[in-house]
Amino acid sequence: MSPDELKKNVAKVAFLHLEQQIQPNWVLGVGTGSTINCFIDCLTQSSQTFASAVSSSVQTTERLKAYNINVVDINTVPEVMVYIDGADEVDPSFALIKGGGGALTREKIVASMANKFVCIVDESKLVDCLGEFPVPVEVLPLASHPVATQLSKLGGHAKLRSGLTDNGNCILDVSGLEIDEPDYWERTINDIPGVVTAGIFSLHRPQEIFVATADGSVDHRVGP
Ligand code: A5P
Repeated sequence: MSPDELKKNVAKVAFLHLEQQIQPNWVLGVGTGSTINCFIDCLTQSSQTFASAVSSSVQTTERLKAYNINVVDINTVPEVMVYIDGADEVDPSFALIKGGGGALTREKIVASMANKFVCIVDESKLVDCLGEFPVPVEVLPLASHPVATQLSKLGGHAKLRSGLTDNGNCILDVSGLEIDEPDYWERTINDIPGVVTAGIFSLHRPQEIFVATADGSVDHRVGP
């Protein structure tokens, strides 16, 4: 299967699983990226209704609105029933690296609000230890240099990504870190003054992961 077919496949299987649970009063959290775009396409082909969606990026908001899905402000919802999103890396304990698409901060906010976080990936995203994919770190533009200096003291090499996030901030892509203790690394990077969010999702891990494999099957894994 091609990479695109894997994404479509995992999105479809996760959607069919979720479709049975969706209720008309639900607020659904929707992530960002090419895999989640396939999931949004499935949503629009379903007759199952839900109240509204909260979005993790401008890109996702535009896609949802184009399909006439009611997108509401995060600040106006009491709870998010399920948050669904992709990832850049997934370790065996379901800790993630996210933010390849630059939406990490809003993604983490919505993940933190959700009763359940469901992650959809293909098997190329599975790793034994996080860190081969450079860790995206959203930083205030005025602090990109001092944050990069602090990250280098931790053993990382920070590269400034061109462009700004939806929040008007910069992203440093940090290579050279071996994220053997994801909770520690998430907290340590988050604690650097000027950091908005580290793209390590360890304190808010998904409870369920769907993994597409090359033979066309999709593995549904439920966390501890
Ligand atoms: C967006 O900021 C990211 O966290 C994405 O969820 C992640 O990069 C996965 O994207 P793809 O589904 O495009 O691989």
